[in-house]
Amino acid sequence: MIHLKQCDSTQDLAWECEPGTFVVADTQTRGRGRGPERIWVSPPGGLYLSWRLGAVDPVGFSLLGGLAVLRCLSHWGVHVYLKWPNDCWVERDKIAGVLPDARWRGSQCSGLVLGIGVNVQVEPALLPEHSVSLHQLVAQAPSVEEFGQKLRAELEALLAVHVRSGLAGYLEEVRSHSLPPGTGVAYWLNGERFQGEVLGLDEQGFLLLADGSRLTAVERLILL
Ligand code: BTN
Repeated sequence: MIHLKQCDSTQDLAWECEPGTFVVADTQTRGRGRGPERIWVSPPGGLYLSWRLGAVDPVGFSLLGGLAVLRCLSHWGVHVYLKWPNDCWVERDKIAGVLPDARWRGSQCSGLVLGIGVNVQVEPALLPEHSVSLHQLVAQAPSVEEFGQKLRAELEALLAVHVRSGLAGYLEEVRSHSLPPGTGVAYWLNGERFQGEVLGLDEQGFLLLADGSRLTAVERLILL
């Protein structure tokens, strides 16, 4: 594991590392996210981790990241849901986000960096709107380091399942913590806004909607 006090983004550094390496920073000056602004605010008290992997089957891999965070949070008594594709939310507030970056050789994934940001002990005033930090939810919140250790163990345990059985090995667990059928969502594709009702996740972890659409990637998705 590589631990830095500060960097631009652990996501970029991880590409320089051997597969299997975790890169963690106490703060990031240019943390990258998936939201409309594509930034991840990274003050002290958050866990900022990127995991460099070699050629893996990318199907479902971002769900794996969300599930590992979910398992850790439930270990400390916080029950979250997975907002497709891979964020962890507590009611209407986001506590963690996952950013998968894959590289391809033709149609084969040749390497992947899974970035994860978790608000563990972040001063609420430093967080964006509709965010929450673990220490606001439980009396005995872990340190960032303790949370990071547990998260690395959960990620490695899930990777073993993924290598053996693919997404099928943990899809039911993901489904049981995902947006329930009937949830209204709005989503953006090529800048255009659409609306729909969740039906569930298919075998590849894509989001099925009641009108028959199957979402593989969106620019943004919100609950209505
Ligand atoms: C999201 O917007 O939901 C995804 C956020 C991912 C943030 C993490 S923090 C560690 C890694 N380094 C980055 O620059 N981003 C990811």
